[in-house]
Amino acid sequence: MTTTQPLLGAPAARLEGRAKVTGEARYAAEYQPPDVGYAWPVPATVAHGTVTAVHTEAALADPAVLAVLSHADAPRLQVAGDPMTDVLQSPRVAHHGQFVALAVATTLEAARAAAEAVRVEYATEPYDVVLTRDHPGLYVPETVNGGFPAVRSRGDFDAEYAGAPVRIDRLYHIPPLHNHPMEPHAATALWDGDELTVYDSCQGASAVQEALAGLFRLDPGQVRVIGEHVGGGFGSKGTPRPHVVLAAMAARVVGRPVKLALPRQQMAAVVGHRAETFQRLRLGAETDGRIRALAHDVVTDTSTGQEFVEQAAVVSRTMYHSPHSRTTHQVVRLDVPTPSWMRAPGECPGMFALESAMDELAQACDVDPVELRIRNEPEFEPDSGHPFSSRHLVDCLREGARRFGWHDRDPRNAVRQEGRLMIGSGVAASTYPVYVSPCQAAAFADPDGGFRVHVNATDIGTGARTVLTQIAADALDVALERVRIRIGASELGRAPVAGGSSGTASWGWPVHQACVELRAAIARHGGSVPAGGLSAFADTTEDVEAGQGYARHAFGAQFAEVQVDVDTGETRVRRLLGVFAAGRILNPRLARSQFIGGMTMGMSMALMEGSTMDPEFGDYAERDLATYHVASNADVPRIEAHWLHEDDPHLNPMGSKGIGEIGIVGTAAAVANAIHHATGIRVRTLPARPDALL
Ligand code: MOS
Repeated sequence: MTTTQPLLGAPAARLEGRAKVTGEARYAAEYQPPDVGYAWPVPATVAHGTVTAVHTEAALADPAVLAVLSHADAPRLQVAGDPMTDVLQSPRVAHHGQFVALAVATTLEAARAAAEAVRVEYATEPYDVVLTRDHPGLYVPETVNGGFPAVRSRGDFDAEYAGAPVRIDRLYHIPPLHNHPMEPHAATALWDGDELTVYDSCQGASAVQEALAGLFRLDPGQVRVIGEHVGGGFGSKGTPRPHVVLAAMAARVVGRPVKLALPRQQMAAVVGHRAETFQRLRLGAETDGRIRALAHDVVTDTSTGQEFVEQAAVVSRTMYHSPHSRTTHQVVRLDVPTPSWMRAPGECPGMFALESAMDELAQACDVDPVELRIRNEPEFEPDSGHPFSSRHLVDCLREGARRFGWHDRDPRNAVRQEGRLMIGSGVAASTYPVYVSPCQAAAFADPDGGFRVHVNATDIGTGARTVLTQIAADALDVALERVRIRIGASELGRAPVAGGSSGTASWGWPVHQACVELRAAIARHGGSVPAGGLSAFADTTEDVEAGQGYARHAFGAQFAEVQVDVDTGETRVRRLLGVFAAGRILNPRLARSQFIGGMTMGMSMALMEGSTMDPEFGDYAERDLATYHVASNADVPRIEAHWLHEDDPHLNPMGSKGIGEIGIVGTAAAVANAIHHATGIRVRTLPARPDALL
């Protein structure tokens, strides 16, 4: 068979693009089963305490209202110990905005009015919502997000730092950040006897299926989760959130399908956020900039309900040559919403601190920032001592410097001015680990010459559906058009979430295997498909767990040029340029979109994003996209994403590393470093608001 259509490595356009722009593609809240009811949650108006009474009479007076649920009468779940799923199970209020009741009605308007008419009484208790660096409740957890140890030491940091000729000791602060995907969290739930079907906006149907089965005491086979199209998640849909549990619960109680789409104003408290971090970075170096001692100490917070610790110092264990190293995390449980994953948890905030400190070290040593990073390139991964499966950070830095025009840069600070604008440029490195998880897939050959592939992948807007079809067509050696793929449904098999930049590798691996096997089966049939068709099934549990003794990470280099208005302090980014080494790029069109999306989000983090905990009422002041600022089109400058071709045989059959998160890593530091070059003012607290630059 010969192919005429693009396969792996070709810029295939999104297969569902037309369906999306014509409105044909359906999202979780757009399914309209007959007699569907609508639910609207009631958030707690206190930050800590107990619900003592829920007055529902006024709400129930409207005949359109089907039910008002609270802890007093909601179905008892088999609780999982996850505050995001164990909803309405207890009168305890752990944080402001936690859902304490749910109104269900025949119309959305009636549900909303009913929710507003519910009157809740509380016995309040003192609360603590403010993270400080010396909070008395700080403790060292055993592990941090990702399962890493909270503390790691190599060599003798204290002695080597004390004796280092150049020392940098700086504190960086990043506020709480909220994911705010375009599509708010939403679910439509239907029961048929003891069989539950939910259409859910999630990053992985298997995770939701398993959680709902546990909560409602069902066999996983009795729960069907469908998430065909998802409008973004950035980690906030990685595990089940309250909306899907509440929709299923409400549907059971009112005996009809129920739909629940979270109002954006309620999201900040219930779907997770990037926890606030204080990060102290100490670098002890030789006068030539070579690091002798490195310490990265993180102070962060989590909720009383769950210990989630942003692993911001972990990246400093693997990034640079650092023979004497100590990396620590401390956390305090506050009466705040539970933090969770947000694009590149750990690496994104950690690399803001590390890459800012590297810029400060470059200045202190009078070494070019690109050259400083090259001088600190490790031979082996410092933490594990393993060889890198591939590491092309130096090539990314050199290629980026060449494309950006870095070598024309005057290294002096605050010398380039155009009228009221101070101009500067900055660089930062970028990295993200390679993750992969077990997954199942099936491939079918039909007698009519068509192929079908089933894999429970989730396309959160990245183009997963398209690249998986390319992987299948490539393995089958047929044109893309002959392969029809089904994704986004739990009945298609077990699959991991779209997260950790691991989706394409995890889902693509069994797709590749099943298609290779199917092709072999066709060959055994003399190259034709019998009337009954042929099929092949793959499960990569053993393959991915084999382990290979290599340190696997993607790398990149980020360059930024900014202008700062000397009168207003306003910073605008003029140019962003990233060069990435992320294995084989399977679809350049989709990859570019992921890279520049991440870079845009990193720029937004540098200049605009941040949630403010209001100690008076114990919740975030920003509740929507009018108050929580994210970059708009007008803020986005010329962005270029480039990549190096990287052949890495130690990854997966496609040779790909993840690309979903690395784009955000390092961008904020590149922007802050550029601001320093422009103005001489060092931004160590994000976002870099105008008042800090005047
Ligand atoms: Mo991403 S934060 O791993 O969903």
